[in-house]
Amino acid sequence: FGSVLSFQEQVKSTQDVARELADNGAVEGTLVIAEEQLGGRGRMGRSWVSPQGKGLWMSMVMRPSVPIHCAPQLTLLTAVALCRSLKRKTELPIGIKWPNDLLVNGKKISGILLESAAEDERLKYIVAGVGISVNLSEADYPDELLAKATSLRIQAGHTFSRQELLDEFLLEWETLYDLFLQEGFGPISTLWESLSVTLGTRARFITPQGELNGIPVGLEESGAIRVLRDDGTYASIFSAEMGEPLP
Ligand code: BTN
Repeated sequence: FGSVLSFQEQVKSTQDVARELADNGAVEGTLVIAEEQLGGRGRMGRSWVSPQGKGLWMSMVMRPSVPIHCAPQLTLLTAVALCRSLKRKTELPIGIKWPNDLLVNGKKISGILLESAAEDERLKYIVAGVGISVNLSEADYPDELLAKATSLRIQAGHTFSRQELLDEFLLEWETLYDLFLQEGFGPISTLWESLSVTLGTRARFITPQGELNGIPVGLEESGAIRVLRDDGTYASIFSAEMGEPLP
C-alpha cells in the first residue's frame, strides 16, 4: 500500500483525486495524501475538518476481486487496521464504534469513507478514504463539534509524528488486506469484535429504511451487524447511523 504515491499540498478532497486516478486505471495500492483539504467529506454528506499539516488525510485505491456486497467488509477491515496501529503507536484507549468510527473517551479521532465503483455486480474499484485527527487543537474545531470530535494530541497532551503513524497504519492495513484475500472475512471479523466498544450496548439505529432500537450482538459474515431488537427478533444492518447508548 502506498507503492504509488500522489502527495498533494492542497486539494478539495483526496477522494476526488483518487477516484479520478482509479477511473484512469491507477493500480491497487495507489495512495493520495494531502496536507490540507478544503472540502473534506465525511459519511452522510457531512464535512470533515482537515486543516493544513495537522492530520493524515488520505485515500487509497483498492481493487479486490470480490462481489459488490463485500464492500462493507473492507470498511471494517480498515477500521481494525487503524485501531490496532494507532493503539500501538499512541497507547491511547482507542475503540471502534460501529461501523467505522474510532473513539477515544467517547469522542471521535478518525473516520473512514468508502466509495466504490461497480460493473456487473463486481467491484471495479474501491476508494477508501481515511482521516486521522492527529495534531489538531480545540481551536481547529467548530464549537458544535467539540462535544463529539477530538484529536490524538488533545487526548494524549502532546503531538505525534504523522510519518510514524502513517507508516505503522499502512503496514497493518496491507497485512490485514492480505489476510482477507487469503482467508476471507472471518479473522478480520473476530478482530473487529474484540476492538468494538459498542457491542452489547443498546442503541438506536437510524437506517435508510427507518429507525430501530436494539442491542448489537456481533458481525455477520457479510459484514452486516446483527442487532437484537426489543421484540426479541434479529435485524441485519449494513448501513446506519448509530445513536447514543440507550437505557
Ligand atoms: C466519517 O467518519 O464521516 C468519514 C470521514 C472520512 C474523512 C477522510 S479524510 C481523507 C478522505 N477525503 C475525504 O474527503 N474524506 C476522507
